[in-house]
Amino acid sequence: MSLRFDFNNMFDFSVQGHGVSQHDIDEILPQARRAAQHLKKIIADPYARIKLNLEWAKLPQQRQEDIAGIQRIARQIAKKYENVLFLGIGGSYLGLKAAQDALCAPYYNEFKSLRKKAPRIYFEGNNLDPDTLAVLLKNLNPKKTFVIVISKSGETTETKAALILVEAWLKKAVGAKYGRQILAITDPESGSLRKRVQAEQKKDILSFRALPLLKGVGGRFSEFNMGLMHLAIVGVNIRELLTGSQEMFARCSDEDILKNPAYLYALLHFILYQKKAKSLAILMSFSQTLKSTADWYVQLLAESLGKKYHRKIQVDKNGVENWLANHEDLFNRGRTPISAAGTNDLHSIQQNNVEGENNKVVTFMRVEKFKTDLKIQGKGDLLSGKSFCQLMQLAQEATEWALVSQNRPNCAIIIPEVSAYNWGALLFFFQMATAFEGELLNVNAFDQPGVEGYKNYMYYKLGKPGIPQAVMEEIKNKPLIKNPEYIL
Ligand code: PA5
Repeated sequence: MSLRFDFNNMFDFSVQGHGVSQHDIDEILPQARRAAQHLKKIIADPYARIKLNLEWAKLPQQRQEDIAGIQRIARQIAKKYENVLFLGIGGSYLGLKAAQDALCAPYYNEFKSLRKKAPRIYFEGNNLDPDTLAVLLKNLNPKKTFVIVISKSGETTETKAALILVEAWLKKAVGAKYGRQILAITDPESGSLRKRVQAEQKKDILSFRALPLLKGVGGRFSEFNMGLMHLAIVGVNIRELLTGSQEMFARCSDEDILKNPAYLYALLHFILYQKKAKSLAILMSFSQTLKSTADWYVQLLAESLGKKYHRKIQVDKNGVENWLANHEDLFNRGRTPISAAGTNDLHSIQQNNVEGENNKVVTFMRVEKFKTDLKIQGKGDLLSGKSFCQLMQLAQEATEWALVSQNRPNCAIIIPEVSAYNWGALLFFFQMATAFEGELLNVNAFDQPGVEGYKNYMYYKLGKPGIPQAVMEEIKNKPLIKNPEYIL
């Protein structure tokens, strides 16, 4: 059984003036149909997909032989090492962490029986906080640890810094051949990590083995590419996951906007954003194991749709599109994503959701069947004889009711169970919805120029050569103001 989507509470018949009306839908449909046509056209064109970074749409159809190759290496790693340490940040981390939490048992690292002979999994390089990495390296045995560094660009500071430290740590314990305990997942041609791989492999073919990332797949859209090695190591059924995403691709290719879950999801959010000022998007998972999937979605939505400029499409004489930021058309908008988990966050953010500013749309991820259930023993208590699953579902329904009673729009993604198949479908659904909303907003959903600001500032302060003159001038001429009067 596949995912279901309940959009009832997005409409005015549920949440009055804060919902979408039939008139709103009728009004937007012609624009939505054009957006759907455009998206369909680019996805169907192999050249455009790579050029415009939409190759992720084809990842569900990747070849079994390629996956088998990854699984072979994964088996070697899993057989030999007790721990696998992944280094990466953003799209090179969040999808893996989301998969780890959703598809592996909770407390996976703690209990051998849960790992089923697979190694323990650790994530680092996703921060510059020295405390976490220091503790990990002090306590892990380097001889029993395999390191997988993931960076599409091969240039990201956080990942680079962690790799340098981890290399020294490995080298000290393992000696000159420590590179045999490192695998890199990076761009097939460019970036300093790829150069490093090439240099190391010239010296020793078993050192710094590497997997290439596909062209035209941006970090946050790449779990079905860069995440495969992780999935294979922990023993997730990749074929099932890709089948789930493939099935979702078929559902999300339906040209009837109102029958297409991704298009309808995006369309309703778009209307509520444009016409009802619902600028906060809260993704609330009613399953602890899906909380990091909500964190993954935060990156997807924020980087894809929070943009300074609208998109300008240039078409050359061969009909090939080029997308540019239209500097004459300031946008400076984008819904703000927030990740939350039921039921814990019913005791925190929910107060604001129900009584604070009515500027949000909550999306629930509701799981129908958990892997286990716990029945509450005893008699005479309100809870006696009830099960945790029952209470969880009731809590979700109650949250929905509490929001609707205050005319707060919300919708639900109903997940039969958290399996590889459904999780693959879920991620693919969000990716398609985000791409479609990008079309509706007319922004480039596949770049993230705003992330460059902090990077440039750091590079400037660190003295990196090659920073464009204009960027250096801007940093010099606009220093941070630190008036002591306001530092208490
Ligand atoms: O979505 C993206 O492309 C980015 O958020 C990247 O995932 C993130 O910046 C990490 O980049 P890289 O994989 O090049 O280290």
